[in-house]
Amino acid sequence: MNILVTGGAGFIGSALCRYLVADPGNRVINLDKLTYAGNPASLRQIEALPNYRFVRGDICDEAAMADVLAAERIDRIMHLAAETHVDRSIDGPSTFIETNIVGTFRLLQAAMKYWRSLPATAAERFRFHHVSTDEVFGDLSLDDNSFREETPYAPSSPYSASKAASDHLVRAWHHTFGLPVVITNCSNNYGPFHFPEKLVPLIILNALEERPLPVYGNGTNIRDWLYVDDHARALDLVATNGVTGESYNIGGGSERSNLAVVQTICDILDQKQPQRSCRSYRDLVAFVDDRPGHDQRYAMDTSKIERELGWKPLESFETGLSQTIDWYLANSWWWRPIRERNYRGERLGRAVAGR
Ligand code: NAD
Ligand code: TYD
Repeated sequence: MNILVTGGAGFIGSALCRYLVADPGNRVINLDKLTYAGNPASLRQIEALPNYRFVRGDICDEAAMADVLAAERIDRIMHLAAETHVDRSIDGPSTFIETNIVGTFRLLQAAMKYWRSLPATAAERFRFHHVSTDEVFGDLSLDDNSFREETPYAPSSPYSASKAASDHLVRAWHHTFGLPVVITNCSNNYGPFHFPEKLVPLIILNALEERPLPVYGNGTNIRDWLYVDDHARALDLVATNGVTGESYNIGGGSERSNLAVVQTICDILDQKQPQRSCRSYRDLVAFVDDRPGHDQRYAMDTSKIERELGWKPLESFETGLSQTIDWYLANSWWWRPIRERNYRGERLGRAVAGR
């Protein structure tokens, strides 16, 4: 199986590459533009493997994508490349439109032409797996039911609107042109190699540096958290066994308010790495201005993937978070250069730069 992973130098893409190369029957070609969010260091442990190859490239470049598909005789595309940070999409939406919508369109066009050129057995095997988010479904209140696959799309932010648009394109290329696609929509991930502009790694690293821990608004917004390796396993399962034309919800079944997430991180750090002053890291929590248009709650109904494909998360939020914190404590070689770039004034996201 020759698998093209787009965005494989990012947080989830690198976890997926690490997962896929463990099967010697897979050849993984990781295509990534290496934006601020892409980091070759996340792939250090697999970069010398014979069944792994990195290609620097842009999904918006249709001709380059066509070349890679043909040269590497790709059987499966797993499309993760995207702009992903909601705060950045508020500050500057244009790259989100360019990469998430136009880039997905160009990749679909290259994929369709390639797929049509394949002999029947290879065309039968080919899959285009589009990796998306729960945020396309919009906002839930506390007593609303969780998102199901049929829940109408109602994205709120420039990020989620761009991802919703890309989902629609992928579905249209299936209905209109017959391209064999599967779509997954997943909840918030956390784990090792997570870029420290997102909530979990930002809070861990700010705490270790005894800096304020920014909580937007009153901290009551709720997300459903999934350990990244559980997501990688779900993605492989859907790409391999999912029904063409279908979408699958993926989630952790771990709804937590942002304040609860931050406080849990503080409590674990109080145990693992107490402050010299013996004060709790909770004292560093700082309530700051809310994100404009901040969705109150996301929650996923994952009964379809559980019933049809037998997937369930292996990590609970507590076990996954504890492992994640252990990883950040042991791997400052990975995150310290990113933090230093930030302190030198390079813009690494609203929350990191501003505080
Ligand atoms: P990330 O921001 O960590 O990584 C994105 C990667 O895409 C980076 O390596 C970047 O260099 C690359 N990239 C950006 N533009 C590109 C382009 N034009 N061409 C090629 N590569 C490009 O993102 P992530 O958190 O790993 O998310 C991966 C995917 O999963 C995204 O599609 C995202 O919408 C989706 N998703 C993320 C989450 C989450 O909690 N992080 C949850 C559900 C779905
Ligand atoms: P984030 O990690 O940016 O993911 P997303 O916006 O895709 O869900 O944010 C997760 C939640 O944490 C979201 O409700 C916003 C909130 N948040 C904070 O309270 N403080 C922060 O510094 C950041 C980055 C996020």
